Amino acid sequence: MHNFRWKISGVLLSSLLLFTATAQKKTIDQKVDSVLSLMTVEEKIGQLNQFNDNWRATGPVTVDNDKFNQIKNGQVGSLLNTLGTERTRSWQNVAMQSRLKIPLIFGQDVIHGYKTTFPIPLGEACSWDMDAIELTARVAATEASASGIHWTFAPMVDISRDPRWGRVMEGSGEDTYLGSKIAYARVKGFQGKSLGDTNSVMACVKHFAAYGAAIGGRDYNSVDMSDRTLWEVYLPPFKAAVDAGAATLMNAFNDINGVPSTGNKVLLRDILKGKWGFKGFVVTDWGTIGELVDHGYVANDYQAAQTAITAGADMDMESRCYKNNLAKLISDNKISINLLDDAVKRILKKKFELGLFDNPYKYCNPLRETNALNNNNHAKVAREAATKSIVLLKNEKNILPLSKNIKTIAFIGPLVKEVKQNKGFWDIDIPGADSSFIVSQWNGLQNKVGNNTNLLYAKGCEVDGDNKDGFAEAIAIAKQADVIILSIGEKRDMSGEAHSRSNINIPGIQEDLVKEMLATGKPVVVLINAGRPLVFNFTADNAPVILYTWWLGSEAGNAIADVLFGDYNPSAKITMTFPRVVGQIPFYYNHFNTGRPVVNEEDHVYKSSYRDIPSTPKYPFGYGLSYTTFGYSNLQLSKKKMAKKEKIEVSFTLTNTGNLDGEEIVQLYLRDKVSSLVRPIKELKDFTKLMLKAGESKTIKFVIDNEKLSFYNQQLIWDSEPGEFDLMIGASSEDIRLTDKFELVN
Ligand code: GLC
Repeated sequence: MHNFRWKISGVLLSSLLLFTATAQKKTIDQKVDSVLSLMTVEEKIGQLNQFNDNWRATGPVTVDNDKFNQIKNGQVGSLLNTLGTERTRSWQNVAMQSRLKIPLIFGQDVIHGYKTTFPIPLGEACSWDMDAIELTARVAATEASASGIHWTFAPMVDISRDPRWGRVMEGSGEDTYLGSKIAYARVKGFQGKSLGDTNSVMACVKHFAAYGAAIGGRDYNSVDMSDRTLWEVYLPPFKAAVDAGAATLMNAFNDINGVPSTGNKVLLRDILKGKWGFKGFVVTDWGTIGELVDHGYVANDYQAAQTAITAGADMDMESRCYKNNLAKLISDNKISINLLDDAVKRILKKKFELGLFDNPYKYCNPLRETNALNNNNHAKVAREAATKSIVLLKNEKNILPLSKNIKTIAFIGPLVKEVKQNKGFWDIDIPGADSSFIVSQWNGLQNKVGNNTNLLYAKGCEVDGDNKDGFAEAIAIAKQADVIILSIGEKRDMSGEAHSRSNINIPGIQEDLVKEMLATGKPVVVLINAGRPLVFNFTADNAPVILYTWWLGSEAGNAIADVLFGDYNPSAKITMTFPRVVGQIPFYYNHFNTGRPVVNEEDHVYKSSYRDIPSTPKYPFGYGLSYTTFGYSNLQLSKKKMAKKEKIEVSFTLTNTGNLDGEEIVQLYLRDKVSSLVRPIKELKDFTKLMLKAGESKTIKFVIDNEKLSFYNQQLIWDSEPGEFDLMIGASSEDIRLTDKFELVN
């Protein structure tokens, strides 16, 4: 009887909870509907309108037509590039004077940190550390939300196989599997447990879609690809982000096969809002509705507005096409009011979920802002993220790690004493904040060595240009040193939006400086700072030690010093192929075999290759060294045949065979040997990163299931096909340590 009573009360309780939850969920939907029912058409259109504010124009500047009165009249739904609790409060005050007092939402490109700046995303991706990546997004959200920001235009999840494209710095590289994991982690980091939490911000997954496949790596250029490639390579990171609960997406600038993304109904309505069931809203990228005219897709802004709202673009960033045309489109019966209502409801719903209707000023607390922007723990997070992003490309004779007893170091190069350069593109200069929190590479070394090492400095040359006047001084101090550290590379604004480059060599005469430093006969450690994979064959072939330091953010100097002296054993591995020359691009690891693959480098006759260079990359996807070494052994598969509903357990032993503790990123690749469509020679299907003490061994386990064997077939159905698969366990996509085979059977 006792048990029975418990059961009854359990049923009652769960149904009461269900009712409350349902009632709670209905409350937001009902609130949205009741606000909508009060709105005029002009007020509805206002919610779809986003203007830029005064911090920075992150697009072609448009005329500012009296934001104040438009906000006061309820004709603006959102502002971007408004920073700080004071300014956001002042604009919110204006919105509260409107008839319905619908709060504004403030959006900002918090791409890799708000004040505390983390490595550029392409650098951070090299950590392969999802917890660390989620954590930096969490810290960024904490700082941004404390500064009045409700919404970050991140993560950028565009897969790219072309380092000429300046925006590779903003993404996670060339691999879909890894890029999807990172997209998921970043959304979780930005949005936290719930959008209603005050330290959560809405994510905005961008740029939907396939922006990273711009032909020639030229920004904003067209994209031309099969539906299968779109589905298999470029869409999955967006799906992962939607699955993570992303609140918003941003459509891309580019056309795909002739259809501009802003007007692409298949993309925005059929796939995103239909098949994927996305309930958030889509903001256009800057001005892209108006750009439908430039594309030649529509004749004028009136048609542009009609096309975009029909396709499913909900909010208009800075084109003014919605503001100027939607009312007429409705009165002309060119679009249904339902299209407008759907977009408005999506936007209002997010404002309710953020809690802004209850308290429009919940993100405008100046004391919280001060505390969040001066939180020492954030610097610690930034330093750890930065150390985990540094890729050790070369370390001949184990020159690194340096001894702390080293007497004299010559720190040379145009980036040694730079401060803001370390922040990379898409950094945020907080109005009124100084840059003293940014640790330059020079200061980082000073912090590390204290007084028992003599630090010498010379700039040597500029990043670009051909002036060698500084070489003599650099050579002179280099000759006095026990080791030379050379910091070279791009300027931070040589990558980023609208910064594609046809030539991705290290600029200027910096490699001549490398040559001079090597000529001194001293040990030379080269740091390469960049927002993309660069071409640097002389340095790669001749310098004994190379660290790829990307742009590491506000703790750059400390992180570089940690790695130079072994306080952190580098573990990062590149997530984008480094070509030998720009002519190899597009160049990526998971390519098809072709009918005439190069089998060995001596034989290029009638093979798919360039006759003037080797057919291999300079550095392959997944490559990166450590100060220790790792052994892979004892590969075992639980079985050699599996049916679709079954799984295969894979295990092997990883051993730290060196004399320093270190982390290894082990990678699982599969190859579908024969299928109805040709398949890549290998695809990353799993990975794990773990720390092993010197001499320690651990058993690593992976599980192969049907999902890992599937692909989009001729009918664009995600499915697997029976047949043989190669299994490869590697330290990189080229450094395959263990192999086996298994068969998928019907
Ligand atoms: C820019 C970028 C986009 C950014 C937006 C707002 O043009 O393409 O990524 O979020 O405008 O700054």
